[in-house]
Amino acid sequence: MTNILGIETSCDETGIAIYNDVQGITANVIHTQIPTHAKYGGVVPELASRDHVTKILPLIDTALEHAEITANDIDAVAYTAGPGLIGALLVGASVGRSLAMAWDKPAVAVHHMEGHLLAPLLEDPAPEPPFVALLISGGHTQLFEVQAIGAYQLLGESMDDAAGEAFDKTAKLLGLGYPGGPALSKIAEQGSHDRYKFPRPMTNRPGLDFSFSGLKTFAANTIASVDGTEQDKADIAWAFQDAVSETLAIKCRRALEQTGLSRLVVAGGVSANSAIRTRLEKLAHDLHATVYYPRPEFCTDNGAMIAFAGYHRFKAGQFADLAIEVNPRWPLAKLPPLCD
Ligand code: KG4
Ligand code: ZN
Repeated sequence: MTNILGIETSCDETGIAIYNDVQGITANVIHTQIPTHAKYGGVVPELASRDHVTKILPLIDTALEHAEITANDIDAVAYTAGPGLIGALLVGASVGRSLAMAWDKPAVAVHHMEGHLLAPLLEDPAPEPPFVALLISGGHTQLFEVQAIGAYQLLGESMDDAAGEAFDKTAKLLGLGYPGGPALSKIAEQGSHDRYKFPRPMTNRPGLDFSFSGLKTFAANTIASVDGTEQDKADIAWAFQDAVSETLAIKCRRALEQTGLSRLVVAGGVSANSAIRTRLEKLAHDLHATVYYPRPEFCTDNGAMIAFAGYHRFKAGQFADLAIEVNPRWPLAKLPPLCD
Protein backbone atom coordinates (compact mmCIF):
# COMPACT_ATOMS: atom_id res chain seq x y z
CA MET A 1 0.00 0.00 0.00
CA THR A 2 1.25 3.47 -0.87
CA ASN A 3 0.24 6.70 0.87
CA ILE A 4 1.01 10.04 -0.77
CA LEU A 5 0.65 13.30 1.14
CA GLY A 6 -0.46 16.07 -1.24
CA ILE A 7 0.10 19.77 -0.53
CA GLU A 8 -1.54 22.54 -2.58
CA THR A 9 -0.65 26.19 -1.92
CA SER A 10 -0.42 27.73 -5.40
CA CYS A 11 -3.01 30.46 -4.84
CA ASP A 12 -5.67 31.13 -2.22
CA GLU A 13 -6.48 27.69 -0.82
CA THR A 14 -4.34 25.60 1.49
CA GLY A 15 -5.32 22.08 0.43
CA ILE A 16 -3.93 18.97 2.09
CA ALA A 17 -4.90 15.40 1.21
CA ILE A 18 -3.73 11.82 1.38
CA TYR A 19 -4.07 9.43 -1.55
CA ASN A 20 -3.86 5.71 -0.88
CA ASP A 21 -3.42 3.53 -3.97
CA VAL A 22 -5.87 0.92 -2.62
CA GLN A 23 -8.45 3.05 -0.79
CA GLY A 24 -8.31 6.24 -2.88
CA ILE A 25 -8.48 9.63 -1.13
CA THR A 26 -8.42 8.92 2.62
CA ALA A 27 -8.16 12.54 3.80
CA ASN A 28 -8.94 15.85 2.16
CA VAL A 29 -8.90 19.10 4.11
CA ILE A 30 -8.92 22.64 2.85
CA HIS A 31 -8.64 26.13 4.22
CA THR A 32 -9.96 28.78 1.88
CA GLN A 33 -8.63 32.34 2.03
CA ILE A 34 -11.65 33.81 0.25
CA PRO A 35 -12.72 35.98 3.26
CA THR A 36 -9.14 37.34 3.51
CA HIS A 37 -9.01 38.47 -0.11
CA ALA A 38 -12.68 39.32 -0.71
CA LYS A 39 -12.38 42.83 0.74
CA TYR A 40 -9.62 43.63 -1.78
CA GLY A 41 -11.61 42.26 -4.74
CA GLY A 42 -8.90 39.75 -5.65
CA VAL A 43 -5.99 37.70 -4.32
CA VAL A 44 -3.31 39.71 -2.47
CA PRO A 45 -0.19 37.53 -2.96
CA GLU A 46 1.60 38.52 0.24
CA LEU A 47 -1.48 37.82 2.36
CA ALA A 48 -1.88 34.47 0.60
CA SER A 49 1.69 33.40 1.46
CA ARG A 50 1.37 34.46 5.09
CA ASP A 51 -1.91 32.64 5.51
CA HIS A 52 -0.51 29.41 4.01
CA VAL A 53 2.34 29.60 6.54
CA THR A 54 -0.04 29.60 9.50
CA LYS A 55 -2.45 26.93 8.20
CA ILE A 56 -0.29 24.33 6.51
CA LEU A 57 1.12 22.35 9.46
CA PRO A 58 -2.12 22.09 11.45
CA LEU A 59 -3.90 20.94 8.27
CA ILE A 60 -1.27 18.25 7.67
CA ASP A 61 -1.85 17.00 11.24
CA THR A 62 -5.60 16.95 10.63
CA ALA A 63 -5.20 15.06 7.35
CA LEU A 64 -3.06 12.38 9.04
CA GLU A 65 -5.72 12.07 11.77
CA HIS A 66 -8.54 11.75 9.22
CA ALA A 67 -6.65 9.05 7.33
CA GLU A 68 -5.86 7.35 10.66
CA ILE A 69 -2.19 7.06 9.83
CA THR A 70 1.03 8.61 11.10
CA ALA A 71 3.91 10.27 9.30
CA ASN A 72 5.67 6.87 9.25
CA ASP A 73 3.00 5.56 6.88
CA ILE A 74 3.61 8.30 4.28
CA ASP A 75 5.61 7.02 1.29
CA ALA A 76 6.17 10.36 -0.45
CA VAL A 77 5.33 14.03 -0.08
CA ALA A 78 3.90 15.70 -3.19
CA TYR A 79 3.56 19.47 -3.39
CA THR A 80 2.50 21.93 -6.07
CA ALA A 81 5.71 23.38 -7.53
CA GLY A 82 3.96 25.58 -10.14
CA PRO A 83 2.40 27.32 -11.89
CA GLY A 84 1.05 29.82 -9.37
CA LEU A 85 2.00 32.70 -7.10
CA ILE A 86 5.68 32.40 -6.26
CA GLY A 87 5.42 33.20 -2.54
CA ALA A 88 2.43 30.90 -2.07
CA LEU A 89 4.14 28.08 -3.97
CA LEU A 90 7.28 28.50 -1.87
CA VAL A 91 5.34 27.84 1.34
CA GLY A 92 4.07 24.44 0.15
CA ALA A 93 7.37 23.54 -1.50
CA SER A 94 9.45 24.45 1.58
CA VAL A 95 7.21 22.54 3.95
CA GLY A 96 6.75 19.57 1.58
CA ARG A 97 10.44 19.28 0.70
CA SER A 98 11.50 19.62 4.34
CA LEU A 99 9.00 17.08 5.66
CA ALA A 100 10.12 14.59 3.02
CA MET A 101 13.70 15.10 4.11
CA ALA A 102 12.87 14.80 7.80
CA TRP A 103 10.82 11.66 7.16
CA ASP A 104 13.47 10.27 4.80
CA LYS A 105 10.96 9.83 1.99
CA PRO A 106 10.96 11.06 -1.61
CA ALA A 107 9.51 14.46 -2.49
CA VAL A 108 7.52 14.94 -5.69
CA ALA A 109 7.15 18.34 -7.39
CA VAL A 110 3.67 18.40 -8.94
CA HIS A 111 2.40 20.55 -11.80
CA HIS A 112 -0.81 22.22 -10.62
CA MET A 113 -2.53 21.80 -14.00
CA GLU A 114 -1.63 18.11 -14.16
CA GLY A 115 -3.40 17.92 -10.81
CA HIS A 116 -6.52 19.54 -12.29
CA LEU A 117 -6.32 17.40 -15.43
CA LEU A 118 -6.12 14.14 -13.48
CA ALA A 119 -8.81 15.05 -10.90
CA PRO A 120 -11.63 13.47 -12.98
CA LEU A 121 -9.73 10.17 -12.79
CA LEU A 122 -10.60 10.07 -9.08
CA GLU A 123 -14.24 9.54 -10.06
CA ASP A 124 -16.03 6.34 -11.00
CA PRO A 125 -16.14 5.68 -13.90
CA ALA A 126 -12.72 7.21 -14.54
CA PRO A 127 -11.94 8.35 -18.10
CA GLU A 128 -9.32 6.23 -19.85
CA PRO A 129 -6.83 7.95 -22.15
CA PRO A 130 -6.81 8.85 -24.97
CA PHE A 131 -9.07 11.85 -24.40
CA VAL A 132 -9.36 15.57 -25.01
CA ALA A 133 -8.93 17.65 -21.85
CA LEU A 134 -10.37 21.13 -21.40
CA LEU A 135 -8.74 22.92 -18.47
CA ILE A 136 -10.67 25.98 -17.34
CA SER A 137 -9.39 27.70 -14.22
CA GLY A 138 -8.64 31.17 -12.90
CA GLY A 139 -5.26 31.22 -14.61
CA HIS A 140 -5.61 28.88 -17.60
CA THR A 141 -7.89 27.97 -20.48
CA GLN A 142 -6.31 25.16 -22.44
CA LEU A 143 -7.23 22.22 -24.63
CA PHE A 144 -4.97 19.17 -24.62
CA GLU A 145 -4.86 15.91 -26.47
CA VAL A 146 -3.98 13.31 -23.83
CA GLN A 147 -2.72 10.08 -25.35
CA ALA A 148 -1.56 8.73 -21.99
CA ILE A 149 -1.29 10.03 -18.44
CA GLY A 150 1.75 12.29 -18.59
CA ALA A 151 1.67 12.89 -22.37
CA TYR A 152 -0.02 16.23 -22.91
CA GLN A 153 -0.14 17.84 -26.33
CA LEU A 154 -1.40 21.41 -26.32
CA LEU A 155 -4.13 21.95 -28.93
CA GLY A 156 -5.08 25.51 -28.05
CA GLU A 157 -5.17 28.05 -25.26
CA SER A 158 -6.33 31.52 -24.35
CA MET A 159 -4.41 34.34 -25.95
CA ASP A 160 -5.37 36.69 -23.10
CA ASP A 161 -7.65 36.21 -20.06
CA ALA A 162 -8.45 32.73 -18.77
CA ALA A 163 -12.14 31.76 -18.60
CA GLY A 164 -12.16 32.04 -14.79
CA GLU A 165 -10.45 35.41 -14.96
CA ALA A 166 -13.13 36.63 -17.40
CA PHE A 167 -15.82 35.43 -14.97
CA ASP A 168 -14.09 37.18 -12.08
CA LYS A 169 -13.54 40.47 -13.94
CA THR A 170 -17.08 40.58 -15.32
CA ALA A 171 -18.46 39.76 -11.88
CA LYS A 172 -16.47 42.67 -10.47
CA LEU A 173 -17.97 45.00 -13.09
CA LEU A 174 -21.39 43.76 -11.99
CA GLY A 175 -20.54 44.62 -8.39
CA LEU A 176 -20.39 41.00 -7.26
CA GLY A 177 -17.90 39.75 -4.68
CA TYR A 178 -14.70 37.75 -5.12
CA PRO A 179 -14.38 35.11 -6.50
CA GLY A 180 -16.88 36.18 -9.10
CA GLY A 181 -17.50 32.94 -11.00
CA PRO A 182 -19.98 31.31 -8.62
CA ALA A 183 -21.66 34.67 -7.82
CA LEU A 184 -22.12 35.55 -11.49
CA SER A 185 -23.50 32.13 -12.27
CA LYS A 186 -25.99 32.49 -9.39
CA ILE A 187 -27.51 35.76 -10.63
CA ALA A 188 -27.47 34.48 -14.24
CA GLU A 189 -30.20 32.03 -13.18
CA GLN A 190 -32.66 34.97 -13.13
CA GLY A 191 -31.40 36.42 -16.43
CA SER A 192 -33.38 36.83 -19.63
CA HIS A 193 -32.30 34.53 -22.47
CA ASP A 194 -33.06 36.90 -25.30
CA ARG A 195 -32.14 40.40 -24.22
CA TYR A 196 -28.42 40.41 -25.08
CA LYS A 197 -26.18 38.41 -27.37
CA PHE A 198 -22.49 38.59 -26.51
CA PRO A 199 -19.82 37.70 -29.11
CA ARG A 200 -18.34 34.16 -29.34
CA PRO A 201 -14.67 35.20 -29.62
CA MET A 202 -12.43 33.46 -32.18
CA THR A 203 -15.10 30.99 -33.26
CA ASN A 204 -15.48 32.30 -36.82
CA ARG A 205 -11.93 31.35 -37.77
CA PRO A 206 -10.20 27.99 -37.62
CA GLY A 207 -8.12 26.90 -34.67
CA LEU A 208 -8.47 25.97 -31.04
CA ASP A 209 -7.23 29.11 -29.31
CA PHE A 210 -9.45 31.29 -27.14
CA SER A 211 -9.72 34.98 -26.29
CA PHE A 212 -11.89 36.13 -23.40
CA SER A 213 -10.73 39.67 -22.65
CA GLY A 214 -13.11 41.16 -25.24
CA LEU A 215 -16.10 39.68 -23.42
CA LYS A 216 -15.23 41.64 -20.30
CA THR A 217 -15.06 44.84 -22.38
CA PHE A 218 -18.37 43.96 -24.04
CA ALA A 219 -19.84 43.46 -20.57
CA ALA A 220 -18.42 46.81 -19.41
CA ASN A 221 -19.98 48.63 -22.38
CA THR A 222 -23.31 46.87 -21.88
CA ILE A 223 -23.32 47.75 -18.17
CA ALA A 224 -22.59 51.39 -19.03
CA SER A 225 -25.63 51.46 -21.33
CA VAL A 226 -28.22 50.52 -18.66
CA ASP A 227 -29.42 51.75 -15.25
CA GLY A 228 -27.90 48.77 -13.47
CA THR A 229 -31.00 47.25 -11.89
CA GLU A 230 -30.81 43.71 -10.50
CA GLN A 231 -32.60 42.51 -13.64
CA ASP A 232 -30.10 44.31 -15.90
CA LYS A 233 -27.25 42.62 -14.05
CA ALA A 234 -28.88 39.20 -14.25
CA ASP A 235 -29.50 39.61 -17.98
CA ILE A 236 -25.88 40.63 -18.60
CA ALA A 237 -24.59 37.77 -16.43
CA TRP A 238 -26.70 35.27 -18.36
CA ALA A 239 -25.53 36.58 -21.74
CA PHE A 240 -21.89 36.58 -20.64
CA GLN A 241 -22.11 33.03 -19.28
CA ASP A 242 -23.91 31.86 -22.40
CA ALA A 243 -21.14 33.30 -24.59
CA VAL A 244 -18.41 31.58 -22.57
CA SER A 245 -20.31 28.27 -22.53
CA GLU A 246 -21.01 28.27 -26.25
CA THR A 247 -17.46 29.34 -27.11
CA LEU A 248 -16.03 26.51 -25.00
CA ALA A 249 -18.45 24.03 -26.57
CA ILE A 250 -17.56 25.12 -30.13
CA LYS A 251 -13.85 24.63 -29.44
CA CYS A 252 -14.41 21.29 -27.70
CA ARG A 253 -16.41 20.09 -30.69
CA ARG A 254 -13.54 21.07 -32.98
CA ALA A 255 -10.97 19.40 -30.74
CA LEU A 256 -12.96 16.14 -30.61
CA GLU A 257 -13.51 16.18 -34.38
CA GLN A 258 -9.89 17.07 -35.14
CA THR A 259 -8.46 14.33 -32.90
CA GLY A 260 -11.15 11.75 -33.64
CA LEU A 261 -11.49 11.12 -29.90
CA SER A 262 -14.77 10.43 -28.11
CA ARG A 263 -13.94 11.27 -24.50
CA LEU A 264 -13.81 14.81 -23.14
CA VAL A 265 -12.37 15.54 -19.71
CA VAL A 266 -13.19 18.93 -18.21
CA ALA A 267 -11.46 20.22 -15.09
CA GLY A 268 -10.43 23.36 -13.18
CA GLY A 269 -12.50 25.78 -11.10
CA VAL A 270 -14.79 26.87 -13.96
CA SER A 271 -15.76 23.23 -14.63
CA ALA A 272 -17.99 23.54 -11.55
CA ASN A 273 -20.25 25.85 -13.59
CA SER A 274 -23.56 24.15 -14.30
CA ALA A 275 -24.43 26.13 -17.47
CA ILE A 276 -21.10 25.06 -18.96
CA ARG A 277 -21.70 21.47 -17.89
CA THR A 278 -25.13 21.44 -19.47
CA ARG A 279 -23.75 22.81 -22.72
CA LEU A 280 -20.92 20.27 -22.84
CA GLU A 281 -23.28 17.40 -21.99
CA LYS A 282 -25.38 18.37 -24.98
CA LEU A 283 -22.32 18.50 -27.21
CA ALA A 284 -21.20 15.08 -25.99
CA HIS A 285 -24.67 13.71 -26.66
CA ASP A 286 -24.67 15.13 -30.22
CA LEU A 287 -21.23 13.66 -30.96
CA HIS A 288 -21.87 10.30 -29.22
CA ALA A 289 -19.02 11.24 -26.91
CA THR A 290 -18.72 11.12 -23.12
CA VAL A 291 -17.80 14.00 -20.88
CA TYR A 292 -16.11 13.57 -17.49
CA TYR A 293 -15.74 16.05 -14.61
CA PRO A 294 -14.36 16.00 -11.10
CA ARG A 295 -16.85 16.17 -8.21
CA PRO A 296 -17.47 19.89 -7.39
CA GLU A 297 -14.95 20.10 -4.51
CA PHE A 298 -12.23 18.69 -6.77
CA CYS A 299 -12.95 21.26 -9.54
CA THR A 300 -11.47 24.16 -7.61
CA ASP A 301 -8.04 23.95 -6.00
CA ASN A 302 -7.55 21.06 -3.57
CA GLY A 303 -4.87 18.79 -2.16
CA ALA A 304 -6.47 15.56 -3.44
CA MET A 305 -5.57 16.25 -7.06
CA ILE A 306 -1.98 17.02 -6.03
CA ALA A 307 -1.69 13.81 -4.00
CA PHE A 308 -3.11 11.85 -6.96
CA ALA A 309 -0.88 13.47 -9.63
CA GLY A 310 2.01 13.06 -7.18
CA TYR A 311 1.26 9.35 -6.94
CA HIS A 312 1.66 8.95 -10.73
CA ARG A 313 4.97 10.84 -10.73
CA PHE A 314 6.11 8.87 -7.65
CA LYS A 315 5.40 5.56 -9.38
CA ALA A 316 7.52 6.75 -12.31
CA GLY A 317 10.39 7.52 -9.91
CA GLN A 318 10.30 11.22 -10.71
CA PHE A 319 11.51 12.71 -7.44
CA ALA A 320 12.50 16.27 -6.60
CA ASP A 321 16.10 16.83 -5.57
CA LEU A 322 17.02 18.52 -2.31
CA ALA A 323 16.76 22.08 -3.60
CA ILE A 324 13.49 23.85 -2.81
CA GLU A 325 12.43 24.93 -6.29
CA VAL A 326 9.21 26.31 -7.69
CA ASN A 327 8.25 27.28 -11.20
CA PRO A 328 5.58 30.02 -11.33
CA ARG A 329 5.38 29.69 -15.15
CA TRP A 330 5.58 26.07 -16.19
CA PRO A 331 4.04 24.72 -19.42
CA LEU A 332 2.25 21.41 -18.86
CA ALA A 333 3.44 20.05 -22.22
CA LYS A 334 7.01 20.28 -20.87
CA LEU A 335 6.48 17.52 -18.27
CA PRO A 336 8.52 14.36 -18.79
CA PRO A 337 6.50 11.35 -19.96
CA LEU A 338 5.39 8.72 -17.48
CA CYS A 339 6.32 5.18 -18.33
CA ASP A 340 4.63 2.75 -15.98
O1 KG4 B 1 -8.98 25.98 -10.46
P1 KG4 B 1 -9.21 27.15 -9.58
O2 KG4 B 1 -9.74 26.90 -8.20
O3 KG4 B 1 -7.90 27.98 -9.40
C1 KG4 B 1 -6.95 28.16 -10.38
O4 KG4 B 1 -6.13 27.21 -10.62
O5 KG4 B 1 -7.03 29.24 -11.00
O6 KG4 B 1 -10.18 28.12 -10.38
C2 KG4 B 1 -10.66 29.29 -9.81
C3 KG4 B 1 -11.56 29.98 -10.83
C4 KG4 B 1 -12.00 31.37 -10.39
O7 KG4 B 1 -11.79 32.24 -11.49
C5 KG4 B 1 -13.48 31.18 -10.09
O8 KG4 B 1 -14.25 32.34 -10.31
C6 KG4 B 1 -13.84 30.09 -11.07
O9 KG4 B 1 -12.75 29.20 -11.04
N1 KG4 B 1 -15.08 29.37 -10.70
C7 KG4 B 1 -16.21 29.43 -11.41
C8 KG4 B 1 -17.17 28.67 -10.70
N2 KG4 B 1 -16.57 28.15 -9.59
C9 KG4 B 1 -15.28 28.60 -9.60
N3 KG4 B 1 -16.51 30.06 -12.55
C10 KG4 B 1 -17.75 29.93 -13.03
N4 KG4 B 1 -18.73 29.24 -12.42
C11 KG4 B 1 -18.49 28.58 -11.26
N5 KG4 B 1 -19.45 27.88 -10.66
ZN1 ZN C 1 -6.23 25.57 -9.88
